[in-house]
Amino acid sequence: MNNGPVSQRAQKIMNAGSYRLVMDYFVNTYQKSVLESVDIADFTFGNPHEMPLQGLVDALQSWSVPRNKDWFGYKNSEPHAQAVVAESLQRMLGMPFEPDDIAMTTGGFAAITTALKTVADPGDEVIYSLPPWFSYEPLCAEAALSPVKVTIDLETFDLDLAAIEQAITKRTRVLIVNTPHNPTGRVVPPETLTRLAEILENASRQIGRRIYLVTDEPYNRIVFDGVEYHSPLEFYPYSFMCYSYGKTLLAPGQRMGYVAMPPTMPLDERRELREAVKSVQFSSGFVFPNALLQHAIGDLEQLRLDVDHLQQKRDHVVDALREMGYEVHRPEGTFYLFPKSPIPDDKAFADMLIEENVAVLPGTLFETPGYFRICLTANDEMIERGLPGFARAIERASVETPAD
Ligand SMILES: Cc1ncc(COP(=O)(O)O)c(C=O)c1O
Repeated sequence: MNNGPVSQRAQKIMNAGSYRLVMDYFVNTYQKSVLESVDIADFTFGNPHEMPLQGLVDALQSWSVPRNKDWFGYKNSEPHAQAVVAESLQRMLGMPFEPDDIAMTTGGFAAITTALKTVADPGDEVIYSLPPWFSYEPLCAEAALSPVKVTIDLETFDLDLAAIEQAITKRTRVLIVNTPHNPTGRVVPPETLTRLAEILENASRQIGRRIYLVTDEPYNRIVFDGVEYHSPLEFYPYSFMCYSYGKTLLAPGQRMGYVAMPPTMPLDERRELREAVKSVQFSSGFVFPNALLQHAIGDLEQLRLDVDHLQQKRDHVVDALREMGYEVHRPEGTFYLFPKSPIPDDKAFADMLIEENVAVLPGTLFETPGYFRICLTANDEMIERGLPGFARAIERASVETPAD
């Protein structure tokens, strides 16, 4: 029995994973020192540091003019939006998606929670890899699901398939795979995905219950070096792709995304799931995107942030950091870098960087101490201003930290 004002559910959410650490950082460091400062180069959250895409502004203006009396009436997944998404996925992955298998959501958050709640019951286990996106655990807590965490291979940043296989139990219902990966920027290669599908198929047979794959892919349009992108859902039919337009458009405050089931999933199963998905969205608080965004989706699908420019920023920052002595991978996608902290205490190092007017997120916020995350939505001017700060901080770290 709970006598206080806060429900046990809300308490569980607030204590889930690194949620509290992220919120503390947001309130005590980001809002106090970073947001208000004109001196600090902000490499923290995936927020825009430049004016929005003009195409986005034009589309919102144009589609805000009502064409009929129902323009701003209640909307769930609008047939027009579902058709645009199905076509776009077909172009990207070469699979004939059915519009009815697309559920429009208020961004990636709602897509993931919808997929989880559609197939998993309280107490079911959800496996995912560390470092994770820090909302998985609160989303699991809200749905009374049990997170089971494994670690990626920290040498290659690829999935550790042996660890995933070992983590599967009779209660496993979902595996979440995030590719391209926040915070490492790794794109999971097709060979890993082929092997992963075999593991999930065998394990489902062994435990006598289907394990579903939730593929968290808000960065799947942000890949570099002309790499051909492969979604995990191409390899395993029992998948839900969760997408958000917030990253591609660099407008995360405009909430639209979707959950997509692949045409390879048996049709009778998809039919059952379509209805269930809709009812979960309804009961989760009507998590369908606003009418305006759904009207504009045909135009929004054509737009994306400047990936070539982002790739140039990636190369510039990776090269500069390596030159200074940082250990850092060159990511294949996303707008993140995940360098090793030069000292084991990543929080202390992030504080050192703040003193040098550079803000990053410590790896501890991603349950992976000893690293830190750099977000390259920082604009060119911030990058130029920030790089000398990175150099001073690693210099200081080598002097101020005893070698042993
Ligand atoms: C890996 C990952 N998944 C999902 C999301 C959620 O995206 P949105 O805020 O657009 O819903 C994010 C946002 O940062 C993310 O990094």
